[in-house]
Amino acid sequence: MELVVQPLGRSFAVEAGDNLLEVLQANGVPVSYSCRAGRCGTCRCKLVEGKVLESAGDAKLTNPGGGSHVLACMSVLTESCVVEIPEPDEIVAHPARILKASVVAIEDLTHDIKRLVLKSAKPLSFSAGQYAILQFTPEHIRPYSMAGVADDDTLEFHIRKVPGGRVTGYVFDTLRLGDAVRVSGPMGTAYLRRKHEGPVLCIAGGTGLAPVLSIVRAATALKMTNPIHLYFGVRSSADIYGQAWLDELAQRNPNLHVHVVIATNEPGTRHRLGLVTDAVSADWSDLRGWRAYLCGAPPMVEAATLIAKARGIAMEHIYADAFYASPD
Ligand code: FES
Repeated sequence: MELVVQPLGRSFAVEAGDNLLEVLQANGVPVSYSCRAGRCGTCRCKLVEGKVLESAGDAKLTNPGGGSHVLACMSVLTESCVVEIPEPDEIVAHPARILKASVVAIEDLTHDIKRLVLKSAKPLSFSAGQYAILQFTPEHIRPYSMAGVADDDTLEFHIRKVPGGRVTGYVFDTLRLGDAVRVSGPMGTAYLRRKHEGPVLCIAGGTGLAPVLSIVRAATALKMTNPIHLYFGVRSSADIYGQAWLDELAQRNPNLHVHVVIATNEPGTRHRLGLVTDAVSADWSDLRGWRAYLCGAPPMVEAATLIAKARGIAMEHIYADAFYASPD
């Protein structure tokens, strides 16, 4: 049996029962991974020819593209295959860990969004744009994106209160300074592509601003010179937050252009009105050669994906880990 790896054009002898991720790693193939357990989606690759046996996983995969994609860590080889590794020069390999952290700040950003800052004894290695699972108690567990960069000595998250939400209710009403929080991760595939030199489109809805801030903070710290157009969509002006951070980033990074768009008509507002996706649509007719990072509620991410695609961004260059507002 043979495994062929594109676009590297390398091939290896394999045996039935081999795990795809382990084979790739044993042969020095650059492949992203984190959890090794089918949860983070980081090791996703494309099966071009052949079949694999997929062990069960519960990956939160929202990266558009569909097709015959598999999670390498959950794939058992049963016959000769051709697989395609995404962006071999943009590998992120942060082995998933579980860290003990404590709350060092919890403060209001808006009427229903809090900024939560955690400090852990050991640092969490992650790429800008990724997320982690926060466990406040054994019954209160949710994924949230990091808003900062890995070099920070704390971890920052933005948490919106879901009406009637059990976990976010706990964070808003019960969580206190000094409380312990378990952090597991990192996870997610919508991380900053550092080798890309062309323009970048970021669309954030609500607390989707957190991973977008992480991406822009990292790109600015790395002195990347890509033009970045950041669209921040909110329901009303009361939902806008992070303006001071965005202003400060725009001062440090002359290539950053921030567009705040509010959905509700407010007389006299200085902000742009309408849906954030309509604003992007109106501003750009041709986005060929761009990369897009889309972060927010699934309907927004789906609409934004369609626009990015229609304007010429290749599907594999549209990165999205949609946030799911859990009803409980
Ligand atoms: Fe495969 Fe996380 S490493 S899904």
